[in-house]
Amino acid sequence: MVFSLCELISKAEIDRAIGRLAAEIRRDVGDKNPVFVCILKGSFVFAADLIRATGIPAQVQFVCLSSYGCGMETSGRVKMRLGLREPVAGKHVVVLEDIVDTGATVHHLLKYLARRKPADLKLCVLLDKPSRRRLPVKIDYTGFQVPDRFVVGYGIDWNEDFRYLPDIRYVETETEDG
Ligand code: IMP
Ligand code: MG
Repeated sequence: MVFSLCELISKAEIDRAIGRLAAEIRRDVGDKNPVFVCILKGSFVFAADLIRATGIPAQVQFVCLSSYGCGMETSGRVKMRLGLREPVAGKHVVVLEDIVDTGATVHHLLKYLARRKPADLKLCVLLDKPSRRRLPVKIDYTGFQVPDRFVVGYGIDWNEDFRYLPDIRYVETETEDG
């Protein structure tokens, strides 16, 4: 397949959005000693930058969910590959996710977390693709709304590649004969 990567969101734009999201989270849970629940693997870069930008005392946990096999289409079936290691009952939980696409992943995780009786449950996402939604999801903090394009970079992969890119790019595929 012939493809090229085109810039969608620059590193400077990402940095500005991180500052804004961090300020919103600090305002809401800055004195609550929240637990950030970071969804692996795609949100590890976003979470690392955002958590440090908030500058608030907090715990961090990681969960791993997968719905993709290879390629650019979600299978729609969500599997929890790594669950919570510490209880979140009575805690203020902020979920950090890279992209909400169909909504299946966060829908599944929010139900899993709600059963564990946190004091409060909020969702912060870097990229929202609203045109692709199949399940309703309430997002509390949004970095950017993006069009229905497959994106990579800033931790987000395509078949495990391109996570290292500093900015966010979309994949443009071309047919061999132009
Ligand atoms: P959903 O369950 O359909 O909402 O998909 C969410 C997950 O699919 C995200 O956590 C991403 O890991 C992945 N995903 C969705 N869109 C893209 C994309 O454009 N590029 C790379 N991964 C994506
Ligand atoms: Mg993901």
